[in-house]
Amino acid sequence: MINTDILGMMAPQFRSLEPYSPIEPVDVLSARLGIPEDKLVKLDGNENPYGPSPRAREALASFRWYNIYPDPLQRELRDALAKYTGAASEHILVGNGSDELIDLTMRLFLTPGDKVISCPPTFGMYKFNTEVCGGEIVEIPRVGGLYLDIEAIKNAVDRRTKLIFICSPNNPTGNTVSNEEITELLSTGAVVIVDEAYFEFCGCTAVPLVPYKDRLIVLRTFSKWAALAGLRVGYGIFPAVIAETILRMKPPYNVNVAALVAAKATLDDLDRQQKVVRAITDERHRLYSGLSNIPFLKPTPSQANFILCSLKEGSAANLKAFLMEQGILIKQIDSAPFTNAIRVSVGRPEDTDALLQALGQWDIQ
Ligand SMILES: Cc1ncc(COP(=O)(O)O)c(C=O)c1O
Repeated sequence: MINTDILGMMAPQFRSLEPYSPIEPVDVLSARLGIPEDKLVKLDGNENPYGPSPRAREALASFRWYNIYPDPLQRELRDALAKYTGAASEHILVGNGSDELIDLTMRLFLTPGDKVISCPPTFGMYKFNTEVCGGEIVEIPRVGGLYLDIEAIKNAVDRRTKLIFICSPNNPTGNTVSNEEITELLSTGAVVIVDEAYFEFCGCTAVPLVPYKDRLIVLRTFSKWAALAGLRVGYGIFPAVIAETILRMKPPYNVNVAALVAAKATLDDLDRQQKVVRAITDERHRLYSGLSNIPFLKPTPSQANFILCSLKEGSAANLKAFLMEQGILIKQIDSAPFTNAIRVSVGRPEDTDALLQALGQWDIQ
């Protein structure tokens, strides 16, 4: 008999899945707020306000082969990434954003009921994607909201634990994890994934360890430092056997030609892009000191392109709404112990000025 209960036919984990809460698109917000798109101060997505490298724009404009499928083996970009990262190209894979590499890694390792360790407050995709894959998320809170509890993580690992996700610098706290801590976590036998989405803003990396470890994966992205978030291009450095297997299981044309062309052109224009990164890290200092002078905020030092601030008074939801009315978009954070907090991306000097001025006018209720 044909099963007529369509919900009952779905894989069980999807029947009650909480959706991931993404950032709202600029055109939607612009229409809702009645503020033109280019007047919005967008500090909610850790995007790069300077836009892609001019060489990336030119390469996209002059590319002639949009009618042809991309190289499934991503050879040209993987070779360029080998030079950029210092890892051999057989260790490198490119994804449709690093989000896709999180998904592919989980699908490679997880069978229903397998466990994934994540250390909140941290990036929400680790939990979301574990649930999508029918796995079980085990959350080991950070000490004081910031530091990994290495002993608690080690004690939580059991025979069902396959993966440990570590974000460094961590979103939303902005602090890093040391290679000693990563090595310690590898001693558990689980696969450790270090998410370095914000690497360029701090320079600390676990990539040099990958060739010597059979269970260490490092993920990175072009979304932040290279300003290509809309094109969706991320990459990972994997042990060779994992990279080979993912190459066999991934959708063949997972990264579109525009993303491949723009990422390669960005790597050919490193001096310009590094200047942009420096402009952002310089601005981070100015933003941090400005936020420190706001009496109701307590900012956390950051090595990324955003700053987490706890509110000493007033509500983060009200503050977010107040700023939004003025076209300033920030992210509200509600993850213990930062349950009344905001995360502000580092923008251009004029974005900092607009934010600080608006914060100065907030009437705490
Ligand atoms: C820690 C972290 N990892 C991964 C991503 C996703 O990157 P991508 O745009 O490459 O999918 C983000 C995006 O905000 C992030 O904060």
